[in-house]
Amino acid sequence: MSEKIHTHIFDSVIVGAGGAGLMAALYASRSSNVAVISKLYPTRSHTGAAQGGIGAALGNLEEDHWEWHAYDTVKGSDFLADQDVVDILCREAVETVIELEHMGLPFDRTPEGKISQRRFGGHTNNETGQPVMRACHAADRTGHMILQTLYQQCIKNQVQFYDEYHVMDLIRIDDTIRGVVTVNIATGEYHIFHSKAVLIATGGWGRCWEVTSNAHSLTGDGAAICLRRGIPLEDMEFFQFHPTGIFRLGILLTEGVRGEGGVLVNDQGERFMERYAPTIKDLASRDVVSRAIYLEVQAGRGIGGNNYVHLDVRPETVNHYLKEAGEDRRIDAAYIEEKLPDIADFTRTYLGVDPVREPMPVQPTAHYAMGGIPTDLHGRVVLDGENTILDGLYAAGEVACVSVHGANRLGTNSLVDLVVFGRRAGLHMADYCLEADLLPLPDNAASSVVNEISRIRGNSGGVKSHQIRTDMQRTMTDNVGVFRTAETLAKAREVLENLAEQYESIEIDDKGKRFNTDLLEAWELGCLIELAQATTESALARFESRGAHARDDFTDRDDENWLKHTLCFKDGDSNRLDYKPVTLGRYEPKPRVY
Ligand code: FUM
Repeated sequence: MSEKIHTHIFDSVIVGAGGAGLMAALYASRSSNVAVISKLYPTRSHTGAAQGGIGAALGNLEEDHWEWHAYDTVKGSDFLADQDVVDILCREAVETVIELEHMGLPFDRTPEGKISQRRFGGHTNNETGQPVMRACHAADRTGHMILQTLYQQCIKNQVQFYDEYHVMDLIRIDDTIRGVVTVNIATGEYHIFHSKAVLIATGGWGRCWEVTSNAHSLTGDGAAICLRRGIPLEDMEFFQFHPTGIFRLGILLTEGVRGEGGVLVNDQGERFMERYAPTIKDLASRDVVSRAIYLEVQAGRGIGGNNYVHLDVRPETVNHYLKEAGEDRRIDAAYIEEKLPDIADFTRTYLGVDPVREPMPVQPTAHYAMGGIPTDLHGRVVLDGENTILDGLYAAGEVACVSVHGANRLGTNSLVDLVVFGRRAGLHMADYCLEADLLPLPDNAASSVVNEISRIRGNSGGVKSHQIRTDMQRTMTDNVGVFRTAETLAKAREVLENLAEQYESIEIDDKGKRFNTDLLEAWELGCLIELAQATTESALARFESRGAHARDDFTDRDDENWLKHTLCFKDGDSNRLDYKPVTLGRYEPKPRVY
C-alpha cells in the first residue's frame, strides 16, 4: 500500500531545537520563514544539560582578554583547532553573551550587578598560567537558561515549531538541497519539509558509549544522515570524556564544582591532580583530568579499589585549599546551595550523597563530539579537503565541526560555539534564501525512508535493539575509550562490523504507527552504529596521541605527520579516510604544559 506523504514548504528548515538550532532560527527568521523540527519538545533539548557556564572574556572580576581565551582554546585543542575560527569564537563570545543578557537571560550577578563569572578547566591568565574567571553562569543551569531564553525569542519571532517530528533523511539531488523527510512521532505519518536551505543542529552521539552524560535522544541522527548522503565527517576520533560523571550513571557534575574550589581525591586522600598538572591542578583541560583519573584507578588508587575517585566540594576541604593558595575567599554550605543547586540535587537524588557533607563518587563520562559535519565560518557544509561548499546545507553546534575545538574542547566553549556559529549560520541562511530558488522535489523524495521503515517493521526472527546496543556500547567503552591501541581499535572494528550485519535483521515488537518508540529507537541505533564505525576507523588510522585521542601504542603528539584533520566518507558499507590541513595562525604548536 502506498503511504500518504504530507508536504510543507518553508524557506529555511532547522533540524534540532537546542541552542544552535534556536539561535540560527532566530536570525534566519528575520527575513525568511523558518520551521524548526525536533524529535523532542524544544525545551527538552540537550543544551539544557550544560551546567557550569558560557565562556566570554568579559573581565568582570579580574583582567581577561578574548585573545587569552583564544590561546587557551587553541592550546586546549592540542593545536588541532583552526585558528581563524577560534578568533571568531572568542571575539564574538563577548558580544553574544551581552546579547543573551539583553534578551533576558538571568545570569548570576556580582555585587555590582555585572554578570558573574567563575573558573573553569583550561581557562587561564596567559601571563601567570593561573585559572581565570571567564565562565558566565546562571547557577549551574546555564544551558537550561539559554534554551528557555532563545525559545521565547523564537516564539516572539513567529518561528514555526514542529515538535516530535523525527527527521530521517536529507533530500539531496546532486549538489542541491531540497529539504528533509520526517516521521510525525504521534501519527507515524511521513512529512516532507521542502525548503531552499536546511540547517542540521541535532547534537552529539554520546550514546555510542556505556557511561555518558548525554540524553537518550543523542543518537547522532543528523551526522549519520549526512554521512549517508555523501557528506564526510571530520575528526571523528576526537570524542571527549568529561572527568566528573556520576559513578555508573554518567550524569554530568559540572566542572563548575572545581571552578568553585572543589578537588579530586583518590583512595589515599591525595589531591592527585597536583602531580599531573602542578600549576593548574584540578582545572587542567578535560582530556588531561580524565586520563589522570583513569591512571589513578589503574594504579589501584580508585576509592576502595573501585573504578571511581572522589570529587570533594565540602566547605572545609575547599577552604583548606583556598587558604593554602593564599586566597581570601571562604565558602560555606549556603554558597554551595546557591551556586551549585542542580548538582547538589542530582547527587542527593541519585546517590544519596549530600555534597555539603560528603565527597561525590565520579568517573569519566562520554560527553562531547569534537568532530562532526565539516563547515566553514558561516556554518555552510563543506564536502571535501578543498572545502567545496554544498549550497543550501548548514550545520551548527555539536553536530558540526567548524573546527574550534580541535582534539579537545574547553569547558564552556560548547555553549559559545552554539550561539556564535548558530547566529552566523542563521544570518547566512537568511541571505541565501533571499537569492535562492525553491527547486522542485523529485517524485520519490521519501522513498528511502519509507522503505527502511517498512524493512525494520517487517523483520522477524532477528536480534532486538537492546542486545545490539548493549554490545556496541560495551565495545566502544572497552576499546575506543579514554585510552586506545591498534589492538583495541581493531577489535572494536570487528565487533562493530558484526553488529552492523546483525542490525540488518533487527526485530521490533511494536508493529504499530502511533508513538512507535520501539521502531524509532531501532532506527536511531542504525545511526549510532555507523558513527561508532566512523569513530573507530578514524582513530585506528591516527598514529599519534593528541587531545582526547590517547593511544598507548603512539604516546606522543606527532605534528610532523598528524597536524591535519581527518575526513571520513562512507563508501558503500565501508569508510574511506582523507585529510585536510589545519589552519594555523598566531600560535605555533608547542607541547602542552599545565
Ligand atoms: O562541566 C560543565 O558544566 C560542562 C560544560 C561543558 O561541557 O562545556
